[in-house]
Amino acid sequence: MLAEVKFEGVHKIFGTETAVEDLNLSVEAGEFMVLVGPSGCGKTTTLRMLAGLERPSYGRILIGDRLVNNVPPRFRDVAMVFQSYALYPHMNVHDNLAFGMRAHGAASLLVEQRVKETADVLGLGNLLKRRPSELSGGQRQRVALGRALIRQPQVFLMDEPLSNLDAGLRVQMRAELSRLHERFRVTTMYVTHDQVEAMTMGDRIAVMNSGRLQQVDVPETLYDNPVNLFVAGFIGSPRMNFIKGVLTTRDGKAAVRFMGATVPLSSSSKLIGDTADGDVTVGVRPEDMMWRKAAGPDSSLTFSAEVDVVEPMGHEAYVTVLCAGETVTSRFPPRSGVRTRERVDLALNPARLHLFDARTGESILQRPVAGSAEALKSAREAWIEESSAGRDLRPQAPVVPTQSEEV
Ligand SMILES: Nc1ncnc2c1ncn2[C@@H]1O[C@H](COP(=O)(O)OP(=O)(O)OP(=O)(O)O)[C@@H](O)[C@H]1O
Ligand SMILES: [Mg+2]
Repeated sequence: MLAEVKFEGVHKIFGTETAVEDLNLSVEAGEFMVLVGPSGCGKTTTLRMLAGLERPSYGRILIGDRLVNNVPPRFRDVAMVFQSYALYPHMNVHDNLAFGMRAHGAASLLVEQRVKETADVLGLGNLLKRRPSELSGGQRQRVALGRALIRQPQVFLMDEPLSNLDAGLRVQMRAELSRLHERFRVTTMYVTHDQVEAMTMGDRIAVMNSGRLQQVDVPETLYDNPVNLFVAGFIGSPRMNFIKGVLTTRDGKAAVRFMGATVPLSSSSKLIGDTADGDVTVGVRPEDMMWRKAAGPDSSLTFSAEVDVVEPMGHEAYVTVLCAGETVTSRFPPRSGVRTRERVDLALNPARLHLFDARTGESILQRPVAGSAEALKSAREAWIEESSAGRDLRPQAPVVPTQSEEV
């Protein structure tokens, strides 16, 4: 059964520290939502509240249309996989998988059937008699996933489940998890601080910083239309270049001055209504500032620059250049032959500029698509109106720690 998950005005305050602030987030039934953000931004706390291991200080959490604030973890029908997953070392794979179902009193015939199915799905069929100490890291990780999967929960919560694996295995397990989700379509919240993992796995991505949700959207939109400097800098590698600029409007036409050039805004970049002239931060992704010799015809602006650092990556090279007092990184083709201190021409596509208010860090460009910042903002406002009209947002009693963290 597929269930939608909703956080409505959820806060979590530990003593004087606000770990999660006014979280409003809906995860659609069957959706794979990735929660991403730097260390300490509140990701684990958010998952633990959904699992019932932590109680919100304010606000409401719903699974399906059921308010679960007061529902104990084992009655929420969620399964959680932690970064430091624990297997029972003295039990073999079969019994590790069967443990949860047996503890819930499931009939042994059903347990056997599910263990077999789950082991087949995860490629553990011929390892059922082994103990955890006789498995590789990736195999153990699969058993941990199997223990959650076997319960066929309504909601799957995963907190950095791949972070103990080496790079190769991570990539493999990432693909496996995506395949599993394709197959079972269980509503999933997946936590990571790795933005590549977020971009490759998420149907949508929720970006958090300092306890606050910054933006929720499909990967492409987050990348193309970040709502603020934080999201712009967090998503994408190498990072977006941030350059000092000034916005000027003459005869109703907006232009931005940066790196010694005045660039009229392209027809596809519209300013948010009441944007005043003044200091801005110009954002340029490294691939939108290309080597002139390799650039396509739509890159119409040329800057002359001096090469500072060349980092060959194999299939491409990151070239850091100095240009009109700014240091910017550009993506070059491999084997370009450019060297440190050499002069190169860079071509910039003005349609791909990002503009942010220098003071607030908020984007000053209109979002072209629905599901965007504006849509979210108005949804949030609508919710605040609705909630101030009579919902109970008072602090609740602190949560009683559960005996075991297994949910
Ligand atoms: N039980 C607790 N008591 C007090 N403070 C806590 C508690 N749990 C978390 N915090 C604080 O809340 C904030 C958010 O923590 P959380 O574990 O949710 O971060 P995170 O995003 O999961 O970080 P990481 O990527 O490092 O796992 C942190 O500042 C943390 O110190
Ligand atoms: Mg965490």
